[in-house]
Amino acid sequence: MKFNVYITRKIPDEGVKLIKDIAEIRVWEGQLPPPKDVLLKEIKDADGLLALLTDKIDSEVIEAGERLKVISNYAVGYDNIDIGAATQKGVMVTNTPGVLTETTADLAFALMMACARRIVEADKFVRTGRWKTWEPMLLLGRDIYGSTLGLAGAGRIGTAVARRAAGFGMKILYYNQSRNEKIEKELGAELVSFDRLLEQSDFISIHLPLTHETKHLFNKSAFEKMKHGSILINTARGAIVEESALYEALKAGKLAAAGLDVMDPEPPFTDNPLLKLDNVVLAPHIGSASIATRTRMAVMAAENLVAALKGKIPPNLVNR
Ligand code: DGY
Repeated sequence: MKFNVYITRKIPDEGVKLIKDIAEIRVWEGQLPPPKDVLLKEIKDADGLLALLTDKIDSEVIEAGERLKVISNYAVGYDNIDIGAATQKGVMVTNTPGVLTETTADLAFALMMACARRIVEADKFVRTGRWKTWEPMLLLGRDIYGSTLGLAGAGRIGTAVARRAAGFGMKILYYNQSRNEKIEKELGAELVSFDRLLEQSDFISIHLPLTHETKHLFNKSAFEKMKHGSILINTARGAIVEESALYEALKAGKLAAAGLDVMDPEPPFTDNPLLKLDNVVLAPHIGSASIATRTRMAVMAAENLVAALKGKIPPNLVNR
């Protein structure tokens, strides 16, 4: 007997092929996430669900899955899924860690450099015909070399960012639940309190999961403690930063710039004041968006799903 699998968006074929061998697949063809009523209908007879981080898989959806065995998330983060409800119902939840680490670290670093050297502003400056001559004071930015990087979170992605930072001659501080001996030994990174991270970093890059504890961790009081003229990079989850407080800090010049690949909500409302600031560099949640990485994520999500359907423990089970 073949299983039923619902996939909430088109993903690279390499992943779909693996599922096809053992399951009948239905795919939501829309660009936006399937509406809740569609999800509730489709999940009814699905044995497996392959979901994206934009799909809210709450307890109602999970309960509606009468035969649901596995939710395979096409992402490393899984804050879109009610893990408690899944666990209670005996539904396995999986994610795609590891494969997107370096790609996401690249983007964090790209945003850091773009903010430090005002690349987006400079690009606009040239395109709009404002470049008249070489000027001693034109578009002055901040040095990365020799400055201090503060990592909020030093897991896989934070570690990969630390390695890049060491190559740029940065001093590395990190705030993490546990000690990361690797970056301490190899890169001379130092574990610090959250306040010290805020007070001493020239750049802060966020690599934390979104949880009750990390929601709005970067709020008014955190921005007040940050170094004057420092730069914030977020490639993790938008809600870790309180955007209204970030706007005030940027507008007041407390922060020199921010590079955001993630926002809250996504996409931002068109009247979000951050969109008006020149010292904000934005990207539409593309941290893992390289061809190779998105393909590997599809394969990994499919392998997790197939393993669970076959009654095995999937390699990346989140709710053990
Ligand atoms: C993730 O995987 O959680 C990223 O945000 C998108 O790849």
